[in-house]
Amino acid sequence: MFSAYTGRMLNEEQDFWGEYWAAGPLTSMVDGFETNYQGELRDRWLQFFSVFPARSRLLDIGTGNGAIAMLAAEYSRNEQRDFELHGADRASIDPRRSLKEKAELVASITFHSQASAENLPFEDQWFAGVSGQYAFEYTRHGAALAELWRVLEPDGRACFIMHDHDSEVLRRGREQLRQIELIEKLKFYAAVDVLIEQISLMNEGRAAAGNEDAEKSRHRVNEIAARLGTEASSSFSPESLRLAMGFGSRALEVLGSRGMASAREQTARGRKELAGARLRYEDLARAAGPAGQSEAIVALAREQGFVDLALEPVKHDRSVLIGQQLTMQRPGKG
Ligand SMILES: C[S@@+](CC[C@H](N)C(=O)[O-])C[C@H]1O[C@@H](n2cnc3c(N)ncnc32)[C@H](O)[C@@H]1O
Repeated sequence: MFSAYTGRMLNEEQDFWGEYWAAGPLTSMVDGFETNYQGELRDRWLQFFSVFPARSRLLDIGTGNGAIAMLAAEYSRNEQRDFELHGADRASIDPRRSLKEKAELVASITFHSQASAENLPFEDQWFAGVSGQYAFEYTRHGAALAELWRVLEPDGRACFIMHDHDSEVLRRGREQLRQIELIEKLKFYAAVDVLIEQISLMNEGRAAAGNEDAEKSRHRVNEIAARLGTEASSSFSPESLRLAMGFGSRALEVLGSRGMASAREQTARGRKELAGARLRYEDLARAAGPAGQSEAIVALAREQGFVDLALEPVKHDRSVLIGQQLTMQRPGKG
């Protein structure tokens, strides 16, 4: 059924999405933004799935932990469509392992790890439909369109909800990047690590209580935390600051009960989470491209031969722009 997959393996550094999905989130939405994949987005997807007859083969590209493929699975189950569902992602993915609480839906989908949209492991004209949410714009657009053309059957349809340069998701993403840069510039975790060491020395009786170095490092941590706190209270989306401060305060909490190694584990985890988030937000900003990118993708799709092209802004609560929906069709034989 599948042609041999010849895509290049990602090295660990490039697989930051794989690391993210392995931790088990369902979606990639910026925390705290309640849109999630309910409401407007869900309705648009159900509408897209509704046009396919029973037993259609559908593919979700850039699927991550399969949020959209699972919507298709739910739809198929409720409407007795018996779709054959596939989810593919360039990153290493394994939703069976990372999403245990959705086991039944996940089991009804075949997932393809390390499968780029530009080089899909399927035969020609295999699918009646291809979907992708916050996915297509991450690809090399021209190459991905040619590959979609190849795997779609004549009359097959595709639908992509894509990031928009001026959307709320991007505004929040850029704010997270700004916060992460500030946390790194102020060297928050380095300061907490120094304090952890000073406190440990005092606890072990190897340094005098309240010595000058300890007081200096305590002062430095308090100073940075106060700055981050002020930034958090004035930000419309303070998730990254909260996350960073959370790991910092947990490190100091566990120091007393579990010792220096456990405290250092917390700062190491905080650093790792922020580094991963930085890569994902940078990727988001790159994928969203400049203003007008969606229109350029429509023009490329037309050049590729797709017809019935439509581009519509997607708005949360009818007012907040959260992306652009592209729909298109590979023309039939007639
Ligand atoms: C923002 S996430 C969206 C995931 C999922 N569609 C969702 O809505 O939760 C983008 C995903 O696209 C994947 N991706 C990036 N470039 C890709 C490519 N060229 N081919 C296939 N997937 C790609 C990433 O690995 C990542 O999992």
